[in-house]
Amino acid sequence: MLRPIKNNFKGKDVVSLDQFDSQSIIRLYKETASIKKMFEKGRFKNRPYKILDGRIAGLMFYEPSTRTFSSNSAAFKRLGGQTVEHQNPLVTSSAVKGETMEDTTMMMEQYCDILVIRHPVKGTLAKVAQVASIPVINAGDGIGEHPTQALLDMFTIYEKFGKLTGLKGLMAGDMLNGRTVHSLIRGLSIFPGNTVYLLSPKSLRLSRDEFKLYSQMGVKLVEINSLKQIPVDCHFWYWTRVQKERFSDKKVYEKLKLSFILTKKLVSEKAGKKTLLMHPLPRVGEIEIAVDGDPRAVYLTTEAKNGMYVRMALFKLILR
Ligand code: NCD
Repeated sequence: MLRPIKNNFKGKDVVSLDQFDSQSIIRLYKETASIKKMFEKGRFKNRPYKILDGRIAGLMFYEPSTRTFSSNSAAFKRLGGQTVEHQNPLVTSSAVKGETMEDTTMMMEQYCDILVIRHPVKGTLAKVAQVASIPVINAGDGIGEHPTQALLDMFTIYEKFGKLTGLKGLMAGDMLNGRTVHSLIRGLSIFPGNTVYLLSPKSLRLSRDEFKLYSQMGVKLVEINSLKQIPVDCHFWYWTRVQKERFSDKKVYEKLKLSFILTKKLVSEKAGKKTLLMHPLPRVGEIEIAVDGDPRAVYLTTEAKNGMYVRMALFKLILR
């Protein structure tokens, strides 16, 4: 069983958005906003805020990553801590020699105060959290979840609209395999009155079990299958990439990968004046470059940067 956060982050694992309640999320965002302000406006610009001096985070990424790896590493260091990093443990760790995940975890916890792990198999992080005696953060477990990504996405929405209730959003792309959408839907279901339109090719819809589960959790989900059906005036559009690495038949991937493209034309026709244009990245053709300069587009800037601040706040609350 995953331990709920219940406004007390100290020593807790972060494996699923389900561990959070609304109070804990708002608590995290107060901390995030204050750290962000401190770093962007104030005293700590270009200087570490040394509250984790002498602490070490172990980063183990069994799948590739740009943002999640770098922002976790930067977040820990900006708090004065240091990191032990395995960017590709299947090449660099004793996993090559056949060491089990359990043994590798046991070893890393002899040296570190917290572990941030990304793994290709859904459910691995829940298992690791069971055996580890130090906090473990899920940085993506296959097609399962990516809780810290959802937390930074929700912070970006919260920062813009000042609320996480009564939102109308669109998620487009790969609902079946996209772990970021799974966590984001779970996160939005913690707050009342949220509606999410899900746009994907039929074969990449949420599994029926997940659709049922999330609907019961309280978020209203509406599946659509064409750009025409996108409602006007959404608070956010959350575009995602079709997850190539989850396809056994690459021909099927090729057929589906660009089913829905976010273009300048679409933005001018359907987005509201304040609609946030979001994407967890990487993008591989599903957002036209011409959209990047739109003031509503935050994927390459605010959204990505907030990832570092949310992770700083999380490290602080867990370790202090
Ligand atoms: C996402 C991931 O790895 O799940 N990226 C990220 O962490 N920012 C999304 C993706 O790879 O499509």
